[in-house]
Amino acid sequence: MKKILFLIILIPLVSLGQVKEKTLKDISTFPIGSSIRITPFLKDSKLVSIQKKHFNSFTSGSDMKMYNIIKAENEYNWEVVDTILKYATQNNQRLFGHNLIWHSSTPKWVVEKARENPKWLQSFMKSYIETYVGRYKGKVHGWDVVNEGLESAGSSFRKESIWFEIMGKSYIEKAFIYARKADPDAILFYNDFNIERDTLKLNATLKMVEDFKKRGIPIDGIGFQMHIRMDIPNEIIEFTLKKAAKTGLQIHLSEVDLIFNTHDDTRGGGIEKYKFLTEKMKQDQAKKYYDLAQIYKSVVPKNQQYGITFWGFNDRDTWIKPFFDMEDWPCIFDNKLNKKPAFDGFYEGLVE
Ligand code: XIL
Repeated sequence: MKKILFLIILIPLVSLGQVKEKTLKDISTFPIGSSIRITPFLKDSKLVSIQKKHFNSFTSGSDMKMYNIIKAENEYNWEVVDTILKYATQNNQRLFGHNLIWHSSTPKWVVEKARENPKWLQSFMKSYIETYVGRYKGKVHGWDVVNEGLESAGSSFRKESIWFEIMGKSYIEKAFIYARKADPDAILFYNDFNIERDTLKLNATLKMVEDFKKRGIPIDGIGFQMHIRMDIPNEIIEFTLKKAAKTGLQIHLSEVDLIFNTHDDTRGGGIEKYKFLTEKMKQDQAKKYYDLAQIYKSVVPKNQQYGITFWGFNDRDTWIKPFFDMEDWPCIFDNKLNKKPAFDGFYEGLVE
């Protein structure tokens, strides 16, 4: 009798424990993604267990960029992408392709050859996209077809890009056309940064999107990279997301991180105001992550919520520190891979 009583008390306690386990992907109504470099990742069992527990969308940190896919003409290297695909499939995760065309990941040999023979560039783009997207047809759920086609600030197309230099702005629509042809069901994104705060840049993006829609150029989504800062007002983020959602396209927060310090958008351009992370800063960041989840949920209609993807997702692996050469703590897990208050903030923002 005593034993039965004990069990009656214990069972609800155990199941309560399970209910309380905070799992982002289980609580979210849209996919939660993480960007990862697959080779070090697979050797890191703690990271793997966090990734499996909390995320159901997988974006590669840099493995799927052009300089890793085609190191010389006709020399495609699929091994790493196949490994990523295997991991995503085995763990029931959506695989997101980042990215097809980006000035910053175009290999040197492509730039040199294009300058020698400008006509070649378009045919190369066509065969690259058709080969790559075609190979992973039905397996890569969505693609960042063009990344960062606009200048860092303002409304112009990015001039320092071999694609723009040789093909003009039409390189963007051509990339979308080739991608659609190679996989008619893949969700095709234009992805850029600062569009959540720079309304000139957002307007230029939306002008391009509306023009594409009018002319039947296939585009399905807008990726807001969302490398944000603590002092970017929520009102601006709300305003820009709402405006973008009016296009009816999918909205992906594609590379989320949240910094305290600042930078000038260039490599090595960090400006360090904070050298230490205080308890107060942790709490402020938790609140901002809460707000971000809430804003996304309330402003972007459900059927346009493609998901929220964290870039790096922990303060140890974040790209921010090496890239901008500064200290920071932008992620929801700390540099020992423990949950930060930011994790709880984001989680609560998803729940409510
Ligand atoms: C970053 C990677 O995380 C770094 O490891 C690499 O050195 C540079 O690129 N916007 C993007 C991403 O679209 O591809 C960038 O990723 C971060 C900014």
